[in-house]
Amino acid sequence: NKKAVIFDLDGVICSTDKYHYIAWKAMADSIQVYFDENINHRLRGVSRMESLEIILERAKREFTEEEKIQLTEKKNQIYQKMLNQMSESDLSGEVWNTLKRLKESGILLAIGSSSKNTKLILERLGLKDFFDIVIDGNDISNSKPDPEVFLKAADSLGVPVEECLVVEDANAGIQAAYAGGFQTVGVQEAAGNEHTTFPVKHFDEIIKLIEA
Ligand code: BG6
Ligand code: MG
Repeated sequence: NKKAVIFDLDGVICSTDKYHYIAWKAMADSIQVYFDENINHRLRGVSRMESLEIILERAKREFTEEEKIQLTEKKNQIYQKMLNQMSESDLSGEVWNTLKRLKESGILLAIGSSSKNTKLILERLGLKDFFDIVIDGNDISNSKPDPEVFLKAADSLGVPVEECLVVEDANAGIQAAYAGGFQTVGVQEAAGNEHTTFPVKHFDEIIKLIEA
């Protein structure tokens, strides 16, 4: 029996992954580095700087630490412009109904995200004060696939790992949860991961899993 659900943010609660892609693509184009949707899959769940390192694998020259910081800042500016256009209407009915239903059942709800933009995104979606605990990229030293973000969320909730369910869309996120000993719900590409406990097609299937 589960007492808590820890949700990843990007690609689970909202479709910000498409904005990440557009922003990284603009950054990569500006330094003439090849980047496409396939490479973008590898960035899911990993931190901003680690994402840049993956993109720079294709670069024809070395970049200094200072240049790398500038490039991540540039990407984040483009990304935040899109985030600032988001509103409550970007929260799907299915996600909202599922969150509400779980909360009504007395399940504790948390966010476990690598993103340093988590608070901004939750605010845009009208979810600023909705979750019991929010652990994000500002609270951790090791990003997914390290389990730190989920372990910290479970600890802050005061719920043992075995009584938490982690919901993820990314392989790095499933690896992180698996390494931390959590059972997982996998949506999108994470539904195909060998370590995913419950692969689902539709987000609201989480309700059945919890109430079972
Ligand atoms: C994760 C995304 O949630 O956050 C990654 O899946 C992203 O793609 C990471 O790189 C860091 O995000 P941000 O908002 O701090 O740049
Ligand atoms: Mg994600």
